[in-house]
Amino acid sequence: MSKPNPTVLKIGGSVITDKSKELQVRMDVINRLADEIKRAAVPKLIIVHGGGSFGHPLAQEYGVKEGLKENSQKIGFSETHHVMTVLNGLFMDALIWRNIPAVCITPSSCIITENGRIKHFEDKPLKKLLEMGFLPVLYGDAVLDTKLGFTILSGDQLVSNIATRFNAERVIIGVDVDGLYDADPKVEEKARMFNRLTLKELKNLHSRVGKPKNYDVTGGMFGKITELLPAVESGIPVKIVNATKPNYIYKVLKGEKVKGTLIEKGRVRVG
Ligand code: IPE
Repeated sequence: MSKPNPTVLKIGGSVITDKSKELQVRMDVINRLADEIKRAAVPKLIIVHGGGSFGHPLAQEYGVKEGLKENSQKIGFSETHHVMTVLNGLFMDALIWRNIPAVCITPSSCIITENGRIKHFEDKPLKKLLEMGFLPVLYGDAVLDTKLGFTILSGDQLVSNIATRFNAERVIIGVDVDGLYDADPKVEEKARMFNRLTLKELKNLHSRVGKPKNYDVTGGMFGKITELLPAVESGIPVKIVNATKPNYIYKVLKGEKVKGTLIEKGRVRVG
């Protein structure tokens, strides 16, 4: 059996849900993405999806990320986790109905964080599924935490951790904008998109641009990128592409040229 290193694909919550309406799924987008994933037929793929208007509003309402401070929050933990399983179920439906042997791995059942960072990860089932040719699917989830009681584990932290743990060949991040910009492209007309960035350039940019308020509110893109830095540090290239545009995910999975931002540890020297 050939042993290519896995590809880790994150599908942002803003792609598969309508963030302006609570619990609003974009089933048409999920179905299209499932078609593209099926057509691309990547030999070793791990998918992580976000929460969008399923996980985020409840997590915020009950302060799940901040941890357990009073008993009344417990139902918030349950609800946040539950709606994520509902969104995941819809995603799984789309994959499995297309004959893709996808299997869900529930993060809250195999991961415990410490102050919000992954501390324990029982990854043997994930490893075994991958070896057997299944497509494991995980998601941002409400998880237990050794210090906080519970918290929110973002899909981005999960992606970075899994990519490093399984020595991924590449990470693909599907979002609802074309790539990483120097300002919020939804607000600033003159926002400039980066086609390629090295780790050093990205860090410089981060300290220069800081955390512009608008940008973080609409996309939180820099927060996402910060989570992905460990993967880039260990030499795994990260490509950010627009998953709301038809065929972008297909093309990037196939290794074809597609608009987006490529983040690499350093430039590859030729000669
Ligand atoms: C959030 O996951 C999960 C919950 C709020 C439970 P992400 O942080 O990865 O979700 P998106 O992609 O930003 O929506």
